[in-house]
Amino acid sequence: MKSTIGIAVLLTVLEFACCQRIKTLTACLDKQSLRIDCRYERKTKNALTYEIRLSKDNTEGAVVAGNWNTASSIYKSRANITASDNLVCLYLHGFTTADEGVYICKLKITNDYGPQAQNITVIKDRLEKCAGISVLIQNTSWLLLLLLSLPLLQAIDFVSL
Ligand SMILES: *[C@@H]1O[C@H](CO)[C@@H](O)[C@H](O)[C@H]1NC(C)=O
Ligand SMILES: *[C@@H]1O[C@H](CO)[C@@H](O)[C@H](O)[C@H]1NC(C)=O
Ligand SMILES: *[C@@H]1O[C@H](CO)[C@@H](O)[C@H](O)[C@H]1NC(C)=O
Repeated sequence: MKSTIGIAVLLTVLEFACCQRIKTLTACLDKQSLRIDCRYERKTKNALTYEIRLSKDNTEGAVVAGNWNTASSIYKSRANITASDNLVCLYLHGFTTADEGVYICKLKITNDYGPQAQNITVIKDRLEKCAGISVLIQNTSWLLLLLLSLPLLQAIDFVSL
């Protein structure tokens, strides 16, 4: 019975890990700039196509930055974006309430996981200041580790009985 629960938990974790390749999408305020971190996973080294859009009315929105579609002229001069193996990081300088809305991170990698999209609602008054290291990531991985080790702990428990 105990181990059934353990396996169920394990399956839930794996299932979650299987389909959501954008791991986290976060927003924070770095001085006068909005920073959006889009963390993802990949299984190949193939070229990454990405963009961050801003939607104000539940439509597709306008491209803030990226290499997928041309960025909207409203944002082009204010945005800088960098992409690495597991992170797309956007800075939007001179952030004001006029830039509030739903930010959408879109990724595509040939012959990798299918196209991915995730969004986050950004409201200036609710933004936190950017921290040096993301504590959230650490918390998440701790939780994952704990969940993954549950069946193992139970197995040890079983042996010691
Ligand atoms: C944001 O994500 C939710 C859930 O995936 C989706 O239903 C919604 O349409 C998305 N909003 C925008 C503006 O893309
Ligand atoms: C983007 O803007 C941030 C914040 O001003 C700055 O620290 C970073 O160096 C900039 N990156 C590039 C590639 O210009
Ligand atoms: C991470 O966990 C610690 C302790 O459980 C908690 O105090 C902190 O607020 C958490 N941080 C985030 C970003 O969730």
